[in-house]
Amino acid sequence: MLGWAQRGSIGQRVEQLLKQMTLVEKVGQLNQYSGDWSHTGPVTMDPEKKQQIRDGKLGSMLNVVGVKHTRELQELAMQSRLKIPLLFGQDVIHGFRTTFPLPLAEAASWDLEAMEAGARVAAKEASAWGIHWTFAPMVDIARDPRWGRVMEGAGEDPYLGSRIAEARVRGFQGKQIGAVDRVLACAKHFAAYGAAVGGRDYNSVDMSLQQLWEIYLPPFLASVKAGVATFMNSFNDLNGIPATGNRYLQRDILKGQWKFPGFVVSDWGSIGEMINHGTAANSQEAALSAILAGSDMDMESRAYRDNLAQLVQEGKVPIRLVDDAVRRILTKKFELGLFDDPYRFSDSVREASVWDNAEHKAVARDMAKKSIVLLKNDTISSSSQPALPLATNVRYALIGPHWRSVRDHLGFWSSDWPDDSIRIKTNERALMERLPASSILGYARGCAVDDSSTTGFAEALELAAQADVILLNLGERRDMSGEAKSRSNIHLPGVQEALFNALHKTGKPIVVILHAGRPMVFPSIAQHAHAIVYAWWLGLEAGPALADVLTGGYNPSGRLPMTFPRSEGQIPIYYNYLNTGRPAQSDDHVFYVSAYNDLPNSPQYAFGHGLSYTKFTYSNLRLLDTLMIGQGKIRVQLDLTNSGSMAGTETIQLYIRDRVASLSRPMKQLKDFQQVNLKPNETKTISFTVDREKLSFYNEQLKWVAEPGDFDIMIGASARDIRFTKVIRLVR
Ligand code: NOJ
Repeated sequence: MLGWAQRGSIGQRVEQLLKQMTLVEKVGQLNQYSGDWSHTGPVTMDPEKKQQIRDGKLGSMLNVVGVKHTRELQELAMQSRLKIPLLFGQDVIHGFRTTFPLPLAEAASWDLEAMEAGARVAAKEASAWGIHWTFAPMVDIARDPRWGRVMEGAGEDPYLGSRIAEARVRGFQGKQIGAVDRVLACAKHFAAYGAAVGGRDYNSVDMSLQQLWEIYLPPFLASVKAGVATFMNSFNDLNGIPATGNRYLQRDILKGQWKFPGFVVSDWGSIGEMINHGTAANSQEAALSAILAGSDMDMESRAYRDNLAQLVQEGKVPIRLVDDAVRRILTKKFELGLFDDPYRFSDSVREASVWDNAEHKAVARDMAKKSIVLLKNDTISSSSQPALPLATNVRYALIGPHWRSVRDHLGFWSSDWPDDSIRIKTNERALMERLPASSILGYARGCAVDDSSTTGFAEALELAAQADVILLNLGERRDMSGEAKSRSNIHLPGVQEALFNALHKTGKPIVVILHAGRPMVFPSIAQHAHAIVYAWWLGLEAGPALADVLTGGYNPSGRLPMTFPRSEGQIPIYYNYLNTGRPAQSDDHVFYVSAYNDLPNSPQYAFGHGLSYTKFTYSNLRLLDTLMIGQGKIRVQLDLTNSGSMAGTETIQLYIRDRVASLSRPMKQLKDFQQVNLKPNETKTISFTVDREKLSFYNEQLKWVAEPGDFDIMIGASARDIRFTKVIRLVR
């Protein structure tokens, strides 16, 4: 029996194994290739992959899924001298076989349990398909909707983003790494990838350390505290230093201050890309920079494979750094139980069991319903009723390019399956199943998603003329947001807004349902539509979930996790801005204040905004104390009543503002929220606790401190709908 296979703690087994490894085998563990089946980056073909596995020169692979493929390659690893199992990683971003809503859409639910459940289902399915490790959650804060990858994160807020990061890590990994139906999680992209200048993917990031710590790092720290197994670094440079070669980020902060025990994988080719960044002259310098900075695994650059051994032999890289990286990776392989059974995750019975799993679909449907945000719902004058939920005695015209969309609902970063076109219900079909046949007059596409032809308008107008209300289904295509999908223009593509304007001229009420992977700009619709439903891309159960919301089977509860701008010119736009020395007091106030002369400062829709079919009344806000001394805590209470006629869920948000501090502080910062379900006429007393932690921030020395003074405590239904403000004082 091999020495390291003997009993002992994982730490001991890792050390025993490490002692037997040659330098080449050590470097092999730091090397990761993509398989040849599906690609998520510019793949490098490598005919010798299989031999390299047998030679112990490969530690991990991505883009290899399925019991058959993973087993085949694991068998090769078992022919290597030390029989170190391969680790299979994959972008399991929003579900696997059962596709869930885009991560940004899920974030709009603000429902942490639902998101945890979604990640759990994804882990169960992916692990049954031989996958050990997902490259998720993406925890990048994003304040720029031009950036295509906003779809993959949790939006703009560090507090909400941190809670969601924890929930997803818990969902993927479970309580302890090693359960056969869970996977390793990966917090990415470290760090500040979401702040790419101009929202252009892969672009540079230039920001103060204060902002880095305050806005961009918290979800990463929360992931570490939640026990995330791995990190991925990022493509961008941060203040001139590529993240992959950034010692401050990886060695000082992550592995130093935060004591992160897991390993860091590079992003696809990001070690080699340091040559393009101009911080390395060649692949050898890139490898040197990355290993010194703390990047443990090289995804697809082959820079470690080709240079690391030589760098060690020449004394440029201390062997202890290589050992440290290998140790971190082996530890995860041991924790997963792969040394005891390298085929634990390659079980064809489990694989088959997740193929068509009704329970998983139910979780996805629940998540999809909760992700939908009702942005607007005005009363239709002819009926004196709000446009939504749909009535059964009204004749509706279905118009727009998305009623019959199928694969679009999967969004970006989904695993596509051959039977998707059969298993996904269109919005049209789902709605027809829920409304009496007499209430749907017919369908007209009107226009394509993204071309300039208006020839379909005539048919749409003809149908609209016979209807009482128009249901207009518009949006992006699924591949318009995602990696490398930045857009300078985030209006509805093609002639879709023109179609809306043409229909609006008929004077018929219009309900608009929008699909996208990002906040879009749609001024005319925002102004004139009677109702607007933001339905993102919601995955496998999109159609039925949308029908649930439209017909009132589910009372919408989603809230925006990102601010929606009125125009691209307002970007970056976010709710937690500083007051400045010349704040505008209102949207009309433009002279010699910080404002645009041609556009209000306020957004189209605020962070935290989302309507319900019922009405919630906030009353009786009370503080049980207004003085906080030392570690004291203050209880904040209010009564919430459902004063409408439908059961529903309200998301009560607690914001704070530090009025005077050593650094200018945001006008509002989300510090807590609660979701409350209430039946009609029901009232509940809601309590929040404000403690020192909630009042703290990173000061000029980057120390986490609460400075004595006055703080506004605000309770609201969105960042722009604050119902009460009270002041508390922190004494010392
Ligand atoms: C590049 C992306 O930035 C990253 O998020 C992803 O995990 C890798 N490609 C692997 O597909």
